[in-house]
Amino acid sequence: MTKKILVLPGDGIGKEVMKPTISILSFLIEKYNLDYVISEMNVGGAAFDECGSPIPNDVLEEAKVSDAILFGAVGGEKWDNLTWELRPENALLTLRKELNLFANLRPAFLFNDLSNASPLKKEIINDLDILIVRELTGGIYFGEPRGLVEDKDPNYAFNTMIYDENEIKRIAKIAFESAQKRNGKLCSVDKANVLEVSKFWRSVITEMSHNYPDVELTHQLADNAAMQLVLDPNQFDVIVSSNLFGDILSDIAGTLTGSIGMLPSASLDNSFKGMYEPCHGSAPDIAGYDVANPIAMISSLSMALKFSLDEQEISSKIDTAIATFIQKGFRTKDITTDNNFIKTSEVADKIIDLIDYE
Ligand code: IPM
Ligand code: MG
Repeated sequence: MTKKILVLPGDGIGKEVMKPTISILSFLIEKYNLDYVISEMNVGGAAFDECGSPIPNDVLEEAKVSDAILFGAVGGEKWDNLTWELRPENALLTLRKELNLFANLRPAFLFNDLSNASPLKKEIINDLDILIVRELTGGIYFGEPRGLVEDKDPNYAFNTMIYDENEIKRIAKIAFESAQKRNGKLCSVDKANVLEVSKFWRSVITEMSHNYPDVELTHQLADNAAMQLVLDPNQFDVIVSSNLFGDILSDIAGTLTGSIGMLPSASLDNSFKGMYEPCHGSAPDIAGYDVANPIAMISSLSMALKFSLDEQEISSKIDTAIATFIQKGFRTKDITTDNNFIKTSEVADKIIDLIDYE
């Protein structure tokens, strides 16, 4: 059956990293005779400029009927003063919520050849391979009531951190199963020493752990987990946490590898339809210079093939080609150590040659 892929390059370097990714996808479609239709639409600031909304209805409708969405990055100074509804970032949250993309997988792994790009010492960081499983459609990001009260003295603002049992169970299931496929360790992160919602989160996950005797479950408080990620990141295999804590921890974990330009992510619904995006943002400061690292986006395509398009072998071929690309010494500007680097627009041909050669 024909599969639908929606391409949303977005703003800034989102557009630049999407181009080589689509070249690689087109090559794979041809080489492996894949039955895919690809449509491309504007989102974020680009969509706001075009039609006054960061996430126009036709984009949302197309997203709902697609098997996989490739999302570049959104945002930029030009749109910073808009109200929240009109801001480019709102496109992301709307897509996550409307498509029920509750499971956000954020792998942070280090190519040992790049360990000198990490701010941490080699002995601490070598072989880093962590998967952060972040809850993405609940918690304080979406909890009601929320608001700003401006007619009181003093005025105030508030949000609600709320999780029901089912929301915790479905994200925990993904996390336990991921740990089973990896090294069998799961660390759940919360603030159970302070928050009721976290105490509840902890009790639900502990209860579930009886169904996964092959997974070693531990719990850490979010502040300690942030410190442990920097002190001894290799103690972690899979980390599961709420929307807010997962947001913070995944930036820390990504930064450890020294190259956020290398890290992909997947956001999945119950049936493994998903949206795939690099962990980096739209980086307006370097947009337009052909220097962005497209590996995170290309690696996100690999995750799309693996999780939503059922093409594990082709996905592995991309991963192997990326690893060989690094081993052979190809470097984009963000990860070069000697000022020699290849441009964004030169990466696709290299990766395609490496896939073809395998
Ligand atoms: C992320 C980002 C988003 C988030 C922003 C852009 C809304 O930081 O995907 O991690 O907070 O989820
Ligand atoms: Mg974030």
